[in-house]
Amino acid sequence: MSTQDIPEEENLPAAQDKHAGEVAVPDDPFADPGLPPHEPRIQDIDEKAARRSERAVAFMFTLSMLATVGFIASFVAFPVDKIVYIFPLGHVSALNFALGTTLAVALFCIGAGAVHWARTLMSDHEIVHERHPIEATPEVREQVFQDFRDGAADSGFGRRKLARNTLFGALALFPLSAVVLLRDLGPLPEDKLRRSKWAKGKRLMNQNTMQPLRPEDISVGSLTFAMPEGMSEHDHDFQTQIAKAALMIVRIQPDNIKDKRELDWSHEGIVAFSKICTHVGCPISLYEQQTHHVLCPCHQSTFDLADGGRVIFGPAGHALPQLRITVNDEGYLEAMGDFAEPVGPAFWERG
Ligand code: FES
Repeated sequence: MSTQDIPEEENLPAAQDKHAGEVAVPDDPFADPGLPPHEPRIQDIDEKAARRSERAVAFMFTLSMLATVGFIASFVAFPVDKIVYIFPLGHVSALNFALGTTLAVALFCIGAGAVHWARTLMSDHEIVHERHPIEATPEVREQVFQDFRDGAADSGFGRRKLARNTLFGALALFPLSAVVLLRDLGPLPEDKLRRSKWAKGKRLMNQNTMQPLRPEDISVGSLTFAMPEGMSEHDHDFQTQIAKAALMIVRIQPDNIKDKRELDWSHEGIVAFSKICTHVGCPISLYEQQTHHVLCPCHQSTFDLADGGRVIFGPAGHALPQLRITVNDEGYLEAMGDFAEPVGPAFWERG
């Protein structure tokens, strides 16, 4: 018997073998699958189960009523100053405890009863409400356009050219007032961010102890904050000056410093960078010693102190300025000059 003689159903396995491995593509991959078939609950088919559910709901509502009565009774029964011991709370006000407990039970039982009623006894048939077409009918659209044309003709917008043109002028000029307000963002810092209190020969002072720092004070993995010698918290412009001069110092194994210039500007792996974030100027304070990354807490800009203070994450636009340091004859760390570039965001000062 040839395959043509075999009834179509018997021939099916052979046909399936032939198409094995091919993925069937439905005609409409986004077809509405519709609602799953409704599965009746036990309460839908067993009246006894439905009555049990009803009694459970009624029990919870009754409990709520009793708790409300208890709430009112507690209010009358307990004196305000009566203290009782209740495990594990300890000594508490009897009135507050009674009011809180009864109120909680009353509210919980109303909610639980309502949920149980909805889940077991109310109809659970899903109902579909088809959306009406969003587009208006051609008649409505034509009516809207006609209303607009009528309104334009009534307003005399085309006829009253003087009024129309002066209106355009007023609308065009008005935004200029907002532009003028931008002046209040100033004054521009000009070159003030280009100079800080750091200068050649100024020792690095520990900002906590106000003592000059020696190389041996800086251990690998620590983060030290410093400011220039000669500054005092009592100076009238201290806040202005420290906002530019704040320094952070870390010690990195020289082999781990990737940037050649950074290595030249350091002393035996001790590197000093501006503490002021180059995004919008927050003080940086979080140091991760394994990776040599510092993180700005404001918007999470992250800088690699082993790679020239380069930005490796976040919104900051450029690397942290480095301060060139050395050790003087007395063995103290000192600056070899000011920062070579403006600290902080310094949008106006970078070429
Ligand atoms: S100020 Fe440092 S990330 Fe924004």
